[in-house]
This record gives sequence, structure tokens and C-alpha cells, in this order.
Amino acid sequence: MSIGGVRPAVEAMPVYRPGKAAEQAEAEHGITDAIKLASNENPYPPVPSVVSAIAQAATGVNRYCDHLAVDLRTAIGELVGFDLDHVAVGCGSVGLLQQLCLAYLDPGDQALYPWRSFEAYPVNVQMMGAESVQVPLVNHEFDLDAVTAAITSKTKIIMLATPNNPTGTALTVDAMRSMMGSVPDDVIVLIDEAYREFLDPGFGNPVELIADHPNVVVSRTFSKAYGLAGVRVGYLVAKPEVVDQVNKVLAPFAVNGLAQAAAMAALDARDEYEPLLQNIRDERARVVASLTEQGWDLPDAQANFVYLATGERTTDLYVEIEKRGVVTRPFAGEGIRVTIGTPEENDRFLRTLADVG
Ligand SMILES: Cc1ncc(COP(=O)(O)O)c(C=O)c1O
Repeated sequence: MSIGGVRPAVEAMPVYRPGKAAEQAEAEHGITDAIKLASNENPYPPVPSVVSAIAQAATGVNRYCDHLAVDLRTAIGELVGFDLDHVAVGCGSVGLLQQLCLAYLDPGDQALYPWRSFEAYPVNVQMMGAESVQVPLVNHEFDLDAVTAAITSKTKIIMLATPNNPTGTALTVDAMRSMMGSVPDDVIVLIDEAYREFLDPGFGNPVELIADHPNVVVSRTFSKAYGLAGVRVGYLVAKPEVVDQVNKVLAPFAVNGLAQAAAMAALDARDEYEPLLQNIRDERARVVASLTEQGWDLPDAQANFVYLATGERTTDLYVEIEKRGVVTRPFAGEGIRVTIGTPEENDRFLRTLADVG
């Protein structure tokens, strides 16, 4: 029995489950020294100038911040080659996903996306009382022909995570451009680039599609590459008509002053971040090579994680790995996603997998 008249769509929603913390795994298995490779976080803290900017901004938190983050949006606009009217910020890119769903999905509408993909997609669609239409992956990759074939008159949003979470595979801009030829102009196409900074540059920049396709929306985040998952700030690049609607449904001051200051400082410190990002990309290559040597056949890993297609063995395997102190993200019956950590953490994961695999 529910108290009050909770909306049926919300009552039916699952509770959001974040990746398991190392401390929780330690308590569950009676172990110490666990490491978390479960949430695609950056293993390195933000660079010192970013930490200072957050500390400095902390002295001003008695005041509300700039709700529409004009300075930050201007700085992001300079980065992506647009004016601030083409940029929205949100409480993480998942906040922007929710804003897009609030702005564009009514009960009965459809949102279309390949599956398996980011777990927040079905949740946010369901929250609006809309319907998810999921198009199966083929060999862990998106089948864009199947996606466009699934468009109906009810389709309002298409969601494409590239690189995809959890498989790590990515789409080229050419593939997205050719797909856009089969997408009606009144369907929003969200290109979710939460992991863009880990992607091989040869895949191209989907922001370029916006000029010819006003229904394209590109979202990115400071959570992963800039190590700012805990302060919550993401951004979206789109035509001003879309940005205006998305901004209307931004919860007041959701991108708080600490988050704005951190993101501004991170943009200023991009040169300092580059070696850290290169380290993660190099480690990814090393982990992929080592797993391949162990006999694993991996999908192309373009983000800061690898995906093991463990099928029916998933639950047994992840539990065995976790008992030995390495926390990963399992998808029962499908596979295990493992975040790239520091070299020591990656060694530990590789050793542990070799022991139990
Ligand atoms: C594909 C994808 N998009 C968006 C996000 C959301 O990240 P954030 O809200 O921290 O920006 C994630 C986080 O794991 C993700 O995997």
C-alpha cells in the first residue's frame, strides 16, 4: 500500500543502485583492502588548481550561485565552438538526461535506444510515463539500421551512448550522419558522450552534426575525464531552441557554486589533465592486451573500462573476484564491466581474474 497518490509510473520504478563501494564489499565478504572498479570513476583526484577553486568557492556558499551558470557556459561554448545560447549545464550529464526527458516526453511517447546501454535511460523514460523501445546490440555494437527501423510516430527521443556503457564500443560521426538521414526532424537524437575524452579521435566530433541536424543534442560530463564525479556537472550542446527548453526544467541552482568553480578551473587546467588521461588510455591498452593474452575476446574498448562477455558465468565470476577484493559491475547473464584504475589496481584485477577465471 502506498501513502498518498504516488504516480503509478514512479511506484513501478526500480530504486537507483549505484556501483558497490569498496567498504560495502569489505563488510559483505569480511575482507580488507578492497578496490572499487565499478563506477567508471577517474582513479586520480582533480588537479590541485581545481581543488583550490572548490575550496575558494566554499567561502561563498551562503549565497545562491548563478542558476544558469553564464560564465561556465560561455567557457564551454569557447571549447566547443558555439555561443553560450547553444550550451546548457546540468547536475551531471544524467541531470541533463532527466531534463531532456522532462522537456520532450509525455506519457505514451516512446524513447528509442540500443540495449544494453546506460542504465539511467529506462529509468528516466519510465519516470515520465513514457515507453522504452530497446533495440538489441549486435556483437556488443549498435545496429543503427535496426534503430531507425524501430522509429514510429510516437518516437520522441533516440538515445545513443558513444562510447557505450557498458560495452565500450563507439560510433563514428560518419555512421551517425548517415543515420540522421533516416530520422525525422522532430525526433531529438541525444548523443551521450560521457566518455568522449577516452575515445580515439578518429571517431570524429558529433557536435559537427548540429549545423545540419538541429535535432541533434550532444551531452558530455566533467565526472569522468576531469575527476569531478562528486561535484556533479555535465553539459549539453544543442540548438538554442532545445537549450531554452532544457534550461526551463533545470532544478534551481542544481549546478551549485562549487561545481561551477570546479568545472571552470578544470577547463583552465586542461593541459594538466592530458597526461592523466593519456595514462588511463595507455593502461586501457595494457589491460586489453593482457586480457587478450589470457584468452578473452573483448569488444573495442573506447572508454575508461573494459567489458567481459561472461554470459551465464557472470554472477559466479564477479562474486569470486569481489571476494578477493576487486569490486566490478556485473550485468547478470551478460557480462562484467571493469573500470580502468591506477596501474596497481589494474594489475590486481588482472591477477585476480587470472586466478579465478
Ligand atoms: C553513458 C553515460 N552517460 C552519462 C553518465 C552520467 O554521468 P554524470 O551524471 O556523472 O555526468 C554515465 C555515468 O556513468 C554514463 O555511463
